[in-house]
Amino acid sequence: MASVPTKILLVDDDPDIQEILQICLKQWGFESAIASNGNEGALLADSFHPDIILSDVMMPDMSGIELLRSLQANGSSRPVILMTGYSTVDMAVEAMKQGARDFLTKPLDYTKLKSVLDAAQKDLKARKQSKKLSSQLTRSGCRPLVGATKVMKDLDTLIRSVAHSDASALIWGESGTGKEVVARCLHDLGKRAAGPFIAVNMAAIPKELIESELFGHAKGAFTGATDERPGCFELANEGTLFLDEIAEMPVDLQTRLLRVLEDGKIRRLGSSEEFTVNVRIIAATNQMPQLAMENGRLREDLYFRLNVISFVLPPLRDRKDDIPLLIQHFIEELNQKHGLSIEAVRDDAMRLLKRYSWPGNVRELKNAIERSAIVARGSSWIESHDLPPYIQNPSKEDFFVLPPDVPTARVQKELLLKALDKAGQNKAEAAKELGLDVRTLSNMLKAFGAKG
Ligand SMILES: Nc1ncnc2c1ncn2[C@@H]1O[C@H](COP(=O)(O)OP(=O)(O)OP(=O)(O)O)[C@@H](O)[C@H]1O
Ligand SMILES: [Mg+2]
Repeated sequence: MASVPTKILLVDDDPDIQEILQICLKQWGFESAIASNGNEGALLADSFHPDIILSDVMMPDMSGIELLRSLQANGSSRPVILMTGYSTVDMAVEAMKQGARDFLTKPLDYTKLKSVLDAAQKDLKARKQSKKLSSQLTRSGCRPLVGATKVMKDLDTLIRSVAHSDASALIWGESGTGKEVVARCLHDLGKRAAGPFIAVNMAAIPKELIESELFGHAKGAFTGATDERPGCFELANEGTLFLDEIAEMPVDLQTRLLRVLEDGKIRRLGSSEEFTVNVRIIAATNQMPQLAMENGRLREDLYFRLNVISFVLPPLRDRKDDIPLLIQHFIEELNQKHGLSIEAVRDDAMRLLKRYSWPGNVRELKNAIERSAIVARGSSWIESHDLPPYIQNPSKEDFFVLPPDVPTARVQKELLLKALDKAGQNKAEAAKELGLDVRTLSNMLKAFGAKG
């Protein structure tokens, strides 16, 4: 389909300029309309619906700057480019202050004019694209789990169809793919929505404290238990308990968890009192369950008990078509959070973002966009040079694709260990050097059998 030409409204009282510019604009592929003064320009702006306005400053009745003001007063945000033969620095400053997109002096430098128009046209295209994505986000109602690829739509359908059930669920996906987002959706769309959603990450708690964290403890149950404390099961009563990184739970505790899942009864550590809880369990793991069972980290019986409904979250590299939509979602969030006014990511930058392999998945994309938006602060656009260096120059990142094939894995592991050495075993620093999220780095180390 041929693209619709960009419309330019030319406002100038000089017939020679009108004639020359009309020819140029046509040659450059623009559609144009001509007004001979400010008032005519204001009327044509309403009927011709130009994308860009190119106006002289000095005109008999209404000046170009007055035209700009009156258009803005009517709520127009169209770019206005002013031209004048009587330029002073003050006038140029005033024009820019009033919101002119550019200020050109006559006699016109046509190469400069063309590049100014091309840049304005590029912005218009990007703005249109971002509006389209924004309305797609609103219309599809896919938030908070953003995605429009088939795999994400199917996931959304599955979530909606099982949210009302009380059955346990197991969510499997690499780190940062949105497992917790899915768990929250299941809770929020289900009949327990008014109840609590309690998330507990097995990898984040010292192993010896997991039991009391889950089941609570009586006063004096162990050294340091100065008070009685309810566990996550009690806190999640009538709601949902999200057990993140389930394969990190000590295996003996998995047996205890299984028993609770069977009879719904819990007992605080150091107490003999037993009571019943009504909790829906959603568990998550970023290790392939089969593998976790094979290497003895996940009990098979627990797996079958949890896996009544299962979700597999695709890595971001397998759904790259969702990248623009996710970015639009994050830009809208960031504009709110940091009071920014980013409109979109430039085409060049988007190409780089789509080329990158995203080992840290959506979390890494979110971080990269947040960082780029902060670097681009003050601008409406995220440009290629605002992106983190490892995305601009992805020579290293290509090694960081999970799950790794064998030869690549060796190189990945070597790079990881080297970076760790260089950083004095400081994981956060090594991750920064490699342009990875620190959790991704830890998970990769684990996958390679190194100490995560
Ligand atoms: N489909 C999505 N739409 C919007 N945001 C998403 C999506 N998936 C993930 N995110 C965002 O990415 C970040 C990571 O998501 P989440 O914590 O759910 O990942 P995870 O799979 O639980 O990761 P981990 O295994 O490291 O715990 C969060 O900030 C989340 O809001
Ligand atoms: Mg998580």
